[in-house]
Amino acid sequence: MATPAFHSQATVRNVRSFPQATQLDLLSTAWSTPQFEREEPGAFALSFSPALVRELIQSYSRPGDTVLDCFLGSGTAYAEALWMSRRSIGMDCNPEMVEDVRDRIGDVAGDLYCADARRLADVLGPESVDLVVTQPPYGHTHKFSKDLPSDLSLLSSRDFLSAIEVVAAELFTVLKPDGYCAILIGDIKDRGRTMPLGFQFVHRFLSRGFSVVNLYDARTPSSHLPVPLHAGEYLMIFQKKQKAPKRPLTTS
Ligand SMILES: C[S@@+](CC[C@H](N)C(=O)[O-])C[C@H]1O[C@@H](n2cnc3c(N)ncnc32)[C@H](O)[C@@H]1O
Repeated sequence: MATPAFHSQATVRNVRSFPQATQLDLLSTAWSTPQFEREEPGAFALSFSPALVRELIQSYSRPGDTVLDCFLGSGTAYAEALWMSRRSIGMDCNPEMVEDVRDRIGDVAGDLYCADARRLADVLGPESVDLVVTQPPYGHTHKFSKDLPSDLSLLSSRDFLSAIEVVAAELFTVLKPDGYCAILIGDIKDRGRTMPLGFQFVHRFLSRGFSVVNLYDARTPSSHLPVPLHAGEYLMIFQKKQKAPKRPLTTS
């Protein structure tokens, strides 16, 4: 289990209302419609918009808090969290991704793990994270490896959704009470039919104990988000709400 390098300030977190439009920037994703495709050749598929990640970290955590991205990819959220003075944890099942991020961004101030997000609690321990900012594979739309057994992008839609429910349960365990979990995901096509991953994610996260704080989609006014979302794409903010204290039984 990772040794906490920072003192947690979760109890004094003062979350300001999200979002505040700071800059307009096109979301960079190879999944998106052609007019929005990221321009840099060789850019990592489905990578986060740094502007969006910064806004999420700013809104839902404070300096010193621990921020986790358990689907690290090219390390956008991991890097932004480090640069915003958070303790940053990144995890990916693909050793090449983890090594690449280690080479480019480093792990002096953060923790990088090559592990399966379905085993999060074993790696990090319970109640060790203040904020999760992550972007899982969009089902099998883009396969992130050829044959890595733990790569969720290689699963059938049904197995993918079962795996996401396991990840939701693990995220609930590793988050501190009142911690936030921001997920970016998009609907996909499966054998000609729409697979509404956005709705499926909400259903699975609710069933694992999360509360919905905010849901954003392409209809969200552009002034409310630092980047526009695409049709069928969802930014969902969940919270692990503290259990309400039980009322003492009143005897008459
Ligand atoms: C959509 S990408 C994340 C992109 C990232 N947001 C960025 O900015 O580059 C999804 C990542 O999840 C990883 N992944 C797939 N299955 C995983 C699993 N079971 N556990 C951890 N990571 C996994 C893939 O290797 C891929 O790097």
